[in-house]
Amino acid sequence: MLKKNKTLGEFIIENQSSFQYSSGELSKLINAIRLAAKVVNHEVNKAGLVDILGEAGDTNIQGESQQKLDVLANEKFIQTLKNREIVCGIASEEEDDFITINSYDEKHQNKYVVLIDPLDGSSNIDVNVSVGTIFSIYRRVTPVGTPVELKDFLQKGSEQVAAGYIVYGTSTMLVYSTGHGVNGFTLNPALGTFYLSHPNMQFPEDGKIYSVNEGNYVHFLQGVKDYIKYCQKEEGDRPYTARYIGSLVSDFHRNMIKGGIYMYPKSSIAENGKLRLLYECNPMAYLAEQANGIASDGFKRILEIEPTELHQRVPFFCGSKNMVEKLHEFMTKNT
Ligand code: AHG
Ligand code: MN
Ligand code: MN
Repeated sequence: MLKKNKTLGEFIIENQSSFQYSSGELSKLINAIRLAAKVVNHEVNKAGLVDILGEAGDTNIQGESQQKLDVLANEKFIQTLKNREIVCGIASEEEDDFITINSYDEKHQNKYVVLIDPLDGSSNIDVNVSVGTIFSIYRRVTPVGTPVELKDFLQKGSEQVAAGYIVYGTSTMLVYSTGHGVNGFTLNPALGTFYLSHPNMQFPEDGKIYSVNEGNYVHFLQGVKDYIKYCQKEEGDRPYTARYIGSLVSDFHRNMIKGGIYMYPKSSIAENGKLRLLYECNPMAYLAEQANGIASDGFKRILEIEPTELHQRVPFFCGSKNMVEKLHEFMTKNT
């Protein structure tokens, strides 16, 4: 028997009035993301059956090879948002530059810009392991009815009005926040409807899972190395469990439910780590803080970093409060 849960559509309508400056525009935008999520979910689910596995033969602006599904997910999200004419600009991890939508036209009064990582965890696609989509929403800072500018996208993470992710896992979930906590919705694939399955999600204050690509250990800063050794030490409730999927969305999702810390440190081979501030770290940091967790670059809050470029990378540490605070102790001891 299915529980009689609220649908995402009902939830959006009920909560519309709690948005600051509510005019229904943000609700429409979340609705468009909901639609794009279903389309991408459909593509991801049949990936093994049609010719969309493998590399697309191109590289993105960051020099990473694009998978066919990367390209497809990017197109689907951009198309859906464009067609519905509800944003004035989009920036995507897979695009060199931001995209301007109708904002040069005076009759379009759209005030939101969206930043997306259309497919997170691309290297997992071909092996049938969970991938995701991440989105981040800001109010533009330039006047409506004029073309969007770079500064509309280069805002501090603390300025986000909403953020979320979709995880295409054993079931597909859409998890998002508009600044009033984090709620998770599970897709019933038979009906094509998202239902509120995880209301008010919170990171447990403590956790026992650490998630890091330990293959890079030798390249990490001493503080990170020491913290990893701390996680592995036999003492009290340690050693902790290591879990690393290689898809930020999935690792974050598990850690938020069970309690844990995710780390993508800088290293001697990657000066600022790998994750992108605007498409990955800011939205996840916003969700983490909304869910009682912490997100930092090892020293300071992610949400306070002033972005300087669209595809900027930053070291990322995120998860249960007590775990990230412990990491900070090791980091500061070693500087
Ligand atoms: P993307 O697929 O959007 O490029 O992001 C992949 C990211 C992140 O999701 C994941 O945690 C990390 O890269 C994995 O990197 P490593 O393979 O270096 O561990
Ligand atoms: Mn990603
Ligand atoms: Mn990606």
